[in-house]
Amino acid sequence: MSIDKPVPTVTLPDGQTVPALGLGTWRMGEDASQRPAEVKAVRRAIEMGYRVIDTAEMYGEGGAEEIVGQAVAQALTAGDVKREELFIVSKLYPHNASRAGTRAACERSLTRLGLGHIDLYLLHWRGQHALADTVAAFEQLKARGPIRHWGVSNFDNSDMDELAEVHHGEHCATNQIYYSLGQRGPEFSLLPRLRAQGMPAMAYSPIDQGSLATHPVLRRIGEQRGATAAQVALAWVLAQPGVMAIPKAVQESHLRDNLAAAGLVLTAQDLAAIEQAFPPPRRKTALAMR
Ligand SMILES: NC(=O)c1ccc[n+]([C@@H]2O[C@H](COP(=O)([O-])OP(=O)(O)OC[C@H]3O[C@@H](n4cnc5c(N)ncnc54)[C@H](OP(=O)(O)O)[C@@H]3O)[C@@H](O)[C@H]2O)c1
Repeated sequence: MSIDKPVPTVTLPDGQTVPALGLGTWRMGEDASQRPAEVKAVRRAIEMGYRVIDTAEMYGEGGAEEIVGQAVAQALTAGDVKREELFIVSKLYPHNASRAGTRAACERSLTRLGLGHIDLYLLHWRGQHALADTVAAFEQLKARGPIRHWGVSNFDNSDMDELAEVHHGEHCATNQIYYSLGQRGPEFSLLPRLRAQGMPAMAYSPIDQGSLATHPVLRRIGEQRGATAAQVALAWVLAQPGVMAIPKAVQESHLRDNLAAAGLVLTAQDLAAIEQAFPPPRRKTALAMR
């Protein structure tokens, strides 16, 4: 596969640029026997050049944050990377998202990560706590230093409307959503709205949890371009303006392929074949959630 361009970046509303490709960690930290391989995968990812790592207190009930923490500690000790070069994302359970609960959950996440701050802290999905309380806690954490940015996840248009009404709601840095060739629904109105607000979307499950890796049309395009079907699926997501993607991978070949996919430029012919196989939405559908 020829790499024609560097890893793209997205710009957060406050002007900070972030690499548009990161590493997901869902399903890590669930099985103790897999931990060494998972720590090694995150460490290898950092060695290869990944700088954005996405985790959550939910993943392995804190186990994934511990894995990220161990891998980051090893990478920092080895001098592979400086802390300020990394962009660590974690997420808050909605049932913890009261004012005091948010602060306490952030403290627990920082302990598991072994870090002094989280670069981006997200509300994982809407829950029973008032958004105003969660945002107030996020703003306080940002002012005091434990987090650098905050954002939301799985927020559809109506949730974004509510957020806009909340004091400091405009400080939201991103909305992490399910977006892939198999889930193009956000293109109808959510993505245009985020773009109008200057807010990047963070696409999760960008290769549909691996299922797009065997799609025949993507395979055929990939064969012509010296790439895999998964790389084509990922390159397509990354080609969408204002969108970053966080594919999860443990296998080293997947880590390498996904990083290389950030440099894959799809031709007009490739894009036309993709449009035919995965038509864009014609009406608003509810935001899908994993
Ligand atoms: N905010 C939310 O509610 C939410 C929901 C879901 C996910 N997420 C985040 O988004 C991340 C990514 O989503 P995801 O994990 O659901 O799905 P995904 O990234 O679309 O797919 C991950 C699966 O695809 C495989 N894979 C990765 N790269 C591949 C490649 N190049 N070729 C073939 N197979 C490949 C992985 O295998 P190996 O692991 O064996 O390498 C894994 O089984 C999560 O890990 C999590 O951090 C957030």
